Amino acid sequence: MATPFQLRWGIISTGKIAACFVKDLLVDPKTRDVRDIVHKVSAIGSRSVENARKFIDTVAGGDTSIKAYGTYEEVYFDKDVDAIYIGTPHTFHYTNSLAALKAGKNVLCEKPVTCNSSELRSLIATAKEHGVFFMEALWTRFQPLTLEVKKIAESGVLGAPVVLHADLSGDFDIDNIPKTHRILDPALGGGALLDLGVCSGPYPLVWAIVALYENPRNKLNPPSSITGAMLKTTLTDVDRNTSFTLTFSSADLAAQAILSCSINLNAPQPGVTIRFERGTIAIAAPIYCPKEFTIQHFGTDGTIKEERKEFEYVGGGWHFQADEVARCVRDGEKESTLWGHSKSLLEMEIFDEVRRQGEYKFPGGVEKVL
Ligand SMILES: NC(=O)c1ccc[n+]([C@@H]2O[C@H](COP(=O)([O-])OP(=O)(O)OC[C@H]3O[C@@H](n4cnc5c(N)ncnc54)[C@H](OP(=O)(O)O)[C@@H]3O)[C@@H](O)[C@H]2O)c1
Repeated sequence: MATPFQLRWGIISTGKIAACFVKDLLVDPKTRDVRDIVHKVSAIGSRSVENARKFIDTVAGGDTSIKAYGTYEEVYFDKDVDAIYIGTPHTFHYTNSLAALKAGKNVLCEKPVTCNSSELRSLIATAKEHGVFFMEALWTRFQPLTLEVKKIAESGVLGAPVVLHADLSGDFDIDNIPKTHRILDPALGGGALLDLGVCSGPYPLVWAIVALYENPRNKLNPPSSITGAMLKTTLTDVDRNTSFTLTFSSADLAAQAILSCSINLNAPQPGVTIRFERGTIAIAAPIYCPKEFTIQHFGTDGTIKEERKEFEYVGGGWHFQADEVARCVRDGEKESTLWGHSKSLLEMEIFDEVRRQGEYKFPGGVEKVL
């Protein structure tokens, strides 16, 4: 058997999700039956070299082969790094990704990939100019459960999809936290739609993209209408509850996605419901990394047959996107076919439109490209 391709990672930031991602990079790919690629963590970049060292000790078992850097730039220019993972807050994604791409590195950037679609267009153009791979870390799209849901949704066994509901919420106790907390601070892109916490808009949206936008009946048509509403908190005027409806209306698909996210509520169960002509798929929360779903088949005699599917693997679920990056880099691909540039762009355009309708403007300077 051929030697697996090794992708050498440089990690930007030492936060919560960077730790989750690195822990998953360290899981043996064979535990998920992946034998063609392996991951190597080569460098950790932090604004403080002490934090980089601490991160290596606590997250990577003190592995002395990993370099600790006190600046992000040193990682961008490290010749032993093939791909950069960016785990900073989303208001920094544009600046960090731009620097990494300009240094000629392949980039995987946390979600939401940028603050708006203009920033994303600029990054895509830079990635193309430098001939490197670029992807948003929409990890849910690569998980085995998602691939299975997509297969069933497209098989026709339940008929055409008609209505999808998805919600991701988290109760941040907003009345009792400082107004400078990232979830409430507009200067940090706070609020439910784009916040860097778990209750952000990309997750409900990814299910609409998988089940409706990607459905072959839709022929990759963008939604024919986007209707959004934001309920803002009087504390700082960021969105407390956001809902948005996407209508797909083409010759072969007539369906709606009703999506929502909140920062003052716990997530509902199930988190996603996809209703088809002849059945329903109900996906258990948390919708960013679900482990089970139920299929209901509606019989013509009024009976309902239920089937449950469960998924288990070693690790947190972040490694599937890393495998995709490794394969794409190995094969010379500049974007993923599962979550490529056009899907991230569709996501950011939808968020721009929902913010426009909800009259949520970031303070000056947050958006680096307008
Ligand atoms: N995929 C997922 O499941 C998931 C879940 C939650 C969040 N996210 C995304 O991941 C990103 C980071 O979220 P997180 O929860 O890991 O955040 P976090 O714990 O606050 O970590 C962010 C890191 O970014 C770096 N950073 C650089 N400039 C910063 C600044 N001015 N203020 C604060 N930190 C700064 C810091 O690392 P250094 O000090 O080492 O430089 C910090 O540790 C966000 O884009 C978020 O949307 C993804």
